[in-house]
Amino acid sequence: MTEKKIILDSGMIAARVGELGHEITRDYADGNLLLVGVLTGAFIFTADLARQIQLPLEISFIKIASYGEKTLSSGNIELVTDIETSVSGRDLLIVEDIVDTGNSLAWLKNHLALKNPRSLKFCSLIDKSERRTREVTIDYTGFALSRGFLVGYGLDYGGQYRQLPAVYELVDP
Ligand code: IMP
Ligand code: MG
Repeated sequence: MTEKKIILDSGMIAARVGELGHEITRDYADGNLLLVGVLTGAFIFTADLARQIQLPLEISFIKIASYGEKTLSSGNIELVTDIETSVSGRDLLIVEDIVDTGNSLAWLKNHLALKNPRSLKFCSLIDKSERRTREVTIDYTGFALSRGFLVGYGLDYGGQYRQLPAVYELVDP
């Protein structure tokens, strides 16, 4: 898997992130917003999205790991680093890079709901539906794609490619 095919260029991403920021600004006007970025993949999306939200907000990060094959999450989610911010009375918006099987999203919602936030919603840059095994709700979706293993804009393959400004599909040469 060495060839890269461009799927989302940086202009498309920036335009869509701007729209999401606008929607979130409108929806949370009376809120107490805490963005929770999911490390490592969502670090770039979280930074860009936060700068498109015209509201007071705080940013926190949670780090999870799921061990399995390199390109498929196993469903065994492990908490690596929890958020440090107090959640009680806050409106939490979880920010993810991509939802694939849905295992991570389901785990995160359950984990963060136990902390009693005032509200809990989910935003993902990419909703990749083909391998979904859990019924999950994504409140804000950047791009809906059916399949493909994607890298760039935070997404990695074996830890590489995260710094690319666009999203590419890795394809067999
Ligand atoms: P899920 O738990 O199967 O929904 O997978 C979610 C996590 O798997 C994402 O947060 C990514 O870290 C990783 N992942 C899933 N699909 C891709 C992909 O196409 N490229 C890179 N990482 C991916
Ligand atoms: Mg991730």
